[in-house]
Amino acid sequence: MSSPESLPATGREWHLISRPRGWPAPGDFALREGPVREPGEGEILVRNIHLSVDPYMRGRMNDVKSYVPPFKLDEPMTGGAIGIVTASQAEGFAPGDHVLHDLGWREHATLRARYATKVSPELAPLTTYLGVLGMPGLTAYAGLLEVASLKKGDAVFVSGAAGAVGSQVGQIAKLKGASRVIGSAGSDEKVRLLTEEYGFDAAFNYKSGPVAAQLKEAAPSGIDVYFDNVGGEHLEAAISSLNVHGRATICGMIAQYNATEPPAAPRNLAMVIGKRLRLQGMLVMDHQDLMPQFFEEVSGWIRSGELKYRETVVEGVENAVDAFLGLLKGENTGKMIVTLAD
Ligand SMILES: NC(=O)c1ccc[n+]([C@@H]2O[C@H](COP(=O)([O-])OP(=O)(O)OC[C@H]3O[C@@H](n4cnc5c(N)ncnc54)[C@H](OP(=O)(O)O)[C@@H]3O)[C@@H](O)[C@H]2O)c1
Repeated sequence: MSSPESLPATGREWHLISRPRGWPAPGDFALREGPVREPGEGEILVRNIHLSVDPYMRGRMNDVKSYVPPFKLDEPMTGGAIGIVTASQAEGFAPGDHVLHDLGWREHATLRARYATKVSPELAPLTTYLGVLGMPGLTAYAGLLEVASLKKGDAVFVSGAAGAVGSQVGQIAKLKGASRVIGSAGSDEKVRLLTEEYGFDAAFNYKSGPVAAQLKEAAPSGIDVYFDNVGGEHLEAAISSLNVHGRATICGMIAQYNATEPPAAPRNLAMVIGKRLRLQGMLVMDHQDLMPQFFEEVSGWIRSGELKYRETVVEGVENAVDAFLGLLKGENTGKMIVTLAD
């Protein structure tokens, strides 16, 4: 086994200790010291550097059947992470390699090397493999180009537009020839970022007034594509503004992740018939085949400065739950990342 860093006996890891009903509270989680296991045959030991906190993790805290199994109580939670290999018993992996893997929410992880992907800090900053060049980026790319079948000249509306997925959806739409791109976000500062830095044609703060009226004003000729990150009132407004044969990618419904009652909206679903709309749900995991094309095209746009991105970085594993709760409240601009140390 090759291991230049001395192996720690224990490391800190976040456990879910009770299932939240409604908004999660800090008391639903515990940061515990757990043993660090030496890697066996085919395994690597990784010291995590960056952890991802994502909205889908809220769903994993509920004990319901879904496309990803619920977190188990009193066990370390999982999630995207970037780390450095500190010991390896796996061919092709050596100490010092950087890897992307799914055993986040902890300082050290022992895992089968086949579940890790090597990433290069020379090619792109490590955090981007969790954001603009990672899962949220691919979600935006696939959701817009494949699921919504974006065409040149389409008018596009995206909610959650200052977040990791949404900010990329709007910019990719412009780069691919959308005639007009409109975004909504939860603060005036985020709204300014959309029009002044990301090149959106119009943007509004959904907290400042009814979404339907603000969308109609921003898109007087209607929209052809809606990329939904929010659900509820946003989806209802989009259905009203969608033109005949419009398409909507239903990517997320963050407005209801902490709701204890189902939302009343959309109340206008019958409009789907007359307008012949296509509303299609998506899961990024179905679009992994697009990864090489996505990586090449998006990294090119980043290098040329045509696509911009922001990250909100919270320091310290002890602050990971605060970062996650902050994400649900809109404290992030762009991808929310927890950085441990380099
Ligand atoms: N289907 C898939 O495969 C897939 C994959 C990745 C992500 N997603 C979904 O895509 C969406 C965005 O994910 P992300 O990772 O890019 O997160 P994000 O947008 O970076 O962060 C979440 C944002 O949601 C907004 N938000 C919170 N509560 C809201 C509410 N009640 N109404 C409107 N906006 C609200 C906040 O921004 P404001 O300040 O603007 O409120 C917050 O910053 C989520 O719904 C997520 O579940 C789906």
